[in-house]
Amino acid sequence: MLVKDGLKILGVGSYIPPKVVTNDDLSKIVDTNDEWISTRTGIRQRHFVENERNQDMAIAAAKMALEDSGIDKNLVGACIVATICPDNVTPSVACSLQKELELPTDIPCFDINAACSAFMYGLSIARGLLMQSDKKYAIVVGTEVLSRILNMEDRGTCILFGDGAGAAVVELSDNKFYSVLGSKGEEDVIRCINKDDERRYVTMNGSDVFKFAVLTVPKVLKELSDKSGVTFDEIDAFVLHQANKRIIEAVAKKCKQDMSKFFINLDKYGNTSSASIPIALTEMKQNGLIKPGMKMLCVGFGAGLTWGGVYLEW
Ligand code: UT7
Repeated sequence: MLVKDGLKILGVGSYIPPKVVTNDDLSKIVDTNDEWISTRTGIRQRHFVENERNQDMAIAAAKMALEDSGIDKNLVGACIVATICPDNVTPSVACSLQKELELPTDIPCFDINAACSAFMYGLSIARGLLMQSDKKYAIVVGTEVLSRILNMEDRGTCILFGDGAGAAVVELSDNKFYSVLGSKGEEDVIRCINKDDERRYVTMNGSDVFKFAVLTVPKVLKELSDKSGVTFDEIDAFVLHQANKRIIEAVAKKCKQDMSKFFINLDKYGNTSSASIPIALTEMKQNGLIKPGMKMLCVGFGAGLTWGGVYLEW
C-alpha cells in the first residue's frame, strides 16, 4: 500500500487568556501611546496570562482541536509542541499534554523551538513522523507565555507581544502539502539569553527583523508556489505570522495580491510567536472563512533567524 504523502488539517483550536492589555494600558507603564503602536504595527491590544501556565493553554487549545476534528485520540501517533517559553526545562509541555489528554504512550511527544516559525516546522515534522507510524493522526500545538520574558521597560519590544495557544490535528492525506523551512544562524537580531542572576528578556533590533521579513516571506511564498504549481492568483488565503500589519501589507504588495486575501488578527492578540498561525486558522474556521478544498499558503518567520512556510489544501 502506498503511504499518502500530503497532509490535511482535520481540526483546529485555540486558547486566549481572558486578560486584555490595551495600548492605553501600556502607555501608563512605558513611554508609548496608542497612536504610535497602532500606526507602526496595527496592534490595538494583546492578552496576557494571569495564572495560566503554558501547558494549561496548550492543553485547552489541543482539547478544542481534538473536539473539532472528531477523531479517536487513541489513534494519535505524535504530539509536538512549538514554544520558546516552556514552563519547565524538562519535562516538555508536550509530555504534560500527553498526560492530561491521556494520549497513547507508544508515540513521540516533544517540544520544538524555532521561534515564530515553529508551528510550520511542527507540521512538517508531524508529516514525517506519520509516514513512519502505524497511527493516523498527529497533534501540533504552538503556545507561548511571552509576557513572562518581556522587559516592561523596553517600549521597543513590550508593546509587540501577547500570550496564547493554537493547535491543529493533522493526518496524512492525498491533499497536497509542501513545506519550505530555513534558518540563518543569526544570534543577535532577536534574542532571549540566559544570564546568571538576571531575569531573561527578549531583546530585538526591530528594523532588522522588519527588513528580514519583508525580504524573506515573499521568497518563501514564491518557492511554495513553484513547488505546488499553484500561482498566487489561485491561492484562496495567505496566513502569515501576525507580527506587524505593515509587514503583511509589504508582502501583499510584493506578491501583487489584494490585502483581502491576507488574514489579520494581530490587532487583537499582538505577536503570539509560534501560536499566531494556529490561532489565526482557528479564528478563520470559526468565522466561516475556511471552506473545504481551499488552497492556502502560511508563512512564519522569527528569531534564529528562521522561516517556515507551507502550502496546504483544506
Ligand atoms: O516575530 C518576529 C518578531 N519581531 C518582529 O516582527 C518585529 C518587526 N519589526 C517591527 O515590527 C518594527 O520594526 C517595530 C514596530 C518594532 C518598530 O517600528 P519602526 O518603524 O521600525 O520604528 P523604529 O524602531 O525605527 O523607531 C522609530 C522611533 C524611534 O524614535 P527616534 O529614534 O526616531 O526618536 C523609537 O525610539 O520610534 C520610537 N519608538 C517608540 N515610540 C513610541 C520605538 N518604540 C516605540 C513605542 N512607542 N513603543
